[in-house]
Amino acid sequence: MKVGVLGSGDVGKALGKAFVALGHDVKMGSRSATNEKALAWARALGPKASVGTFADAAGFGELVLLATLGEANEEVLKAAGPERLAGKILIDTTNPLDHSGGGPPKLSVSGNDSGGERVQRLVPGAKVVKAFNTVGNALMFRPELPGGPPDMFIAGNDAAAKQTVTALLKDFGWGEVHDLGGIESSRYLEPMCIVWVLSALRGQHWNQAFKLLRK
Ligand SMILES: NC(=O)c1ccc[n+]([C@@H]2O[C@H](COP(=O)([O-])OP(=O)(O)OC[C@H]3O[C@@H](n4cnc5c(N)ncnc54)[C@H](OP(=O)(O)O)[C@@H]3O)[C@@H](O)[C@H]2O)c1
Repeated sequence: MKVGVLGSGDVGKALGKAFVALGHDVKMGSRSATNEKALAWARALGPKASVGTFADAAGFGELVLLATLGEANEEVLKAAGPERLAGKILIDTTNPLDHSGGGPPKLSVSGNDSGGERVQRLVPGAKVVKAFNTVGNALMFRPELPGGPPDMFIAGNDAAAKQTVTALLKDFGWGEVHDLGGIESSRYLEPMCIVWVLSALRGQHWNQAFKLLRK
């Protein structure tokens, strides 16, 4: 499959590398087609990895990942071009974080709205599925932990898209995948990121992920 990755940060690099490891062709998009970080990432991975602009990556991908600074999502999706994402699955890994307070981040969108819903409104023709936003990039692929594979929580409006993403998460080594419903459930998934960060900061445990236990 051809995968477009919008973002050259740690998440874009980690998920892009994971898709290449699974045999997919990946194009990483950035504001500049000559972004040094993206070029170095592609050089290290070989011919299945390439780079371009946000528009190049959006056009290339049969499936596309959004892995950009949450505050920049609007600018990024306008540059990518909603028409290039129409009909495609767009995995939204982002969190709308506000780092301006100096301490742990806060959500810049909350209450009766969320980053995930904003993304879906910006690209109405895409099938947005929120995923990967509740875990650090180091554990996004093959998250091997002593307690077994952790669980992923997803949300989105398109049932078939969520099935595809669930199958993909299994390929990535995740345990149970919990479908929380429509994209408005991003209102609850994005605060989970803050729980993860606060817990990681206080305990200095960065290799951690959520799991629901049942009997
Ligand atoms: N880091 C993690 O472990 C982690 C875990 C879960 C979720 N997340 C979420 O995943 C997303 C990506 O995180 P990250 O740490 O990989 O990277 P990041 O530093 O949050 O974002 C980097 C990307 O954002 C783009 N960007 C930054 N400012 C921009 C602007 N003004 N206009 C357009 N694009 C801009 C950059 O573009 P260029 O390529 O042009 O530089 C780059 O591609 C974030 O929303 C984050 O909250 C992160």
